[in-house]
Amino acid sequence: MTEAIVTGALEAEHVSVRFGGLRALEDITLSLARGELLGLIGPNGAGKSTLINALSGFEAPVEGTIRLEGRSLAGLQPHEVSRAGVARTFQAVRLFRGLSVLENVAAGLVLRRASRRAAVGRAQEILDWMGLGPKADLIAGTLPYGDERRIGIARALATEPRYLLLDEPAAGSNEDEIGELVATIARIRTDFGCGVLVVEHNMALIMTLCERIHVIDGGRTIAIGTPLEVQRDPAVRRAYLGEDEE
Ligand SMILES: Nc1ncnc2c1ncn2[C@@H]1O[C@H](COP(=O)(O)OP(=O)(O)OP(=O)(O)O)[C@@H](O)[C@H]1O
Ligand SMILES: [Mg+2]
Repeated sequence: MTEAIVTGALEAEHVSVRFGGLRALEDITLSLARGELLGLIGPNGAGKSTLINALSGFEAPVEGTIRLEGRSLAGLQPHEVSRAGVARTFQAVRLFRGLSVLENVAAGLVLRRASRRAAVGRAQEILDWMGLGPKADLIAGTLPYGDERRIGIARALATEPRYLLLDEPAAGSNEDEIGELVATIARIRTDFGCGVLVVEHNMALIMTLCERIHVIDGGRTIAIGTPLEVQRDPAVRRAYLGEDEE
């Protein structure tokens, strides 16, 4: 392995995850480098969220290793993986609906370090950076769905990750919101130097944003390549046959 991979990547090496008899992931090897925008696609039930769960400490592989900059994450709890520099969002947004936007973003930080004042300051900075500053005091449960998803991203970013895993960030968003989201994710890479893994069914978003795409189906890797390579790949076409292309 080259030094760049050892020192600056979040990696899954031959990872398998099972739920009883179901092989949700089978021998997955994936690398997310710092500063990279990597797409992860595949049909419904392919194992995308399970892979995010494995990379963020929410699911323990039965085989294989998750490594952060060379160090195995085996046995670490999700909050420990978060503290080590890996943040993730959830496919189903989990906000405290009765709390303000600011409190929601600060909550993750209060759990992991520092004073409440520092957490609130950091949360406000991130909200301003995302253009959500004016909404800081609104109650999260009253906001449109697209905003909820952006707050989920803000909450993840506030933990100052080096690697950010986004599970369907565009779901439920309209065209304008998706355009903003693409710009925001691109800025996350440049302003924070994060490696960003994006799981999305919105192919236009993935193809615009990502320089490399990892495709899984039935828990297995079926292709890795540039957007063009992946779109032309016969195995990928077969996997999506009969599916909405969006
Ligand atoms: N906690 C669990 N217990 C049992 N089976 C699970 C669990 N989580 C996921 N699965 C199963 O594992 C497989 C992969 O699920 P996963 O949620 O990772 O797919 P996905 O690619 O994220 O799909 P989608 O595009 O619908 O979000 C599916 O067959 C799913 O039903
Ligand atoms: Mg999923």
